[in-house]
Amino acid sequence: METNNRTRVGIIMGSASDLPVMEEAAKVLKELGVGFEMTVISAHRTPERMMEYASTAAHRGLQVIVAGAGGAAHLPGMTASVTPLPVIGVPIKSRNSIDGWDSVLSILQMPAGVPVATVALDGGRNAGILAAQIAAAADPALLERLAAFKEALKEKVMNSIDSVENHAV
Ligand code: RP5
Repeated sequence: METNNRTRVGIIMGSASDLPVMEEAAKVLKELGVGFEMTVISAHRTPERMMEYASTAAHRGLQVIVAGAGGAAHLPGMTASVTPLPVIGVPIKSRNSIDGWDSVLSILQMPAGVPVATVALDGGRNAGILAAQIAAAADPALLERLAAFKEALKEKVMNSIDSVENHAV
């Protein structure tokens, strides 16, 4: 099936320590044949870099930004404040996070007018899938690949039914 290999999704994270969670987004985008780029941008430690990235992302041809951070997780929201692109936020339970709720609420509770589509704590994979789904709105071939992806999820559950029903207790 035809794939569009140009870079369409920007994956950014506040620290290299976020990579284990954020690379899950990259992996699923690769599986789905969606071009992406991935880098580190810290809202607090490299604010100018964040502004530069967010304000030029749309002109560079990106369609969606996936931004992950933990603790006082300002990267997704601040990125969303300067780009017209949809931003998906990934709250990360990082070493400076109390219990994960701080990361979730920092990303989730955005003011009216500046939404961030927030996935579950450490939900890098779902963020990648959601990014592909947004990009698929104008890409019928990608939409078909996503339909096949969902079908595979269904099959996995269907194939597990026998072993659960026949499980000896
Ligand atoms: C956040 O602080 C980063 O996104 C990361 O989740 C967390 C810890 O960063 P490091 O101290 O590991 O660089 O800004």
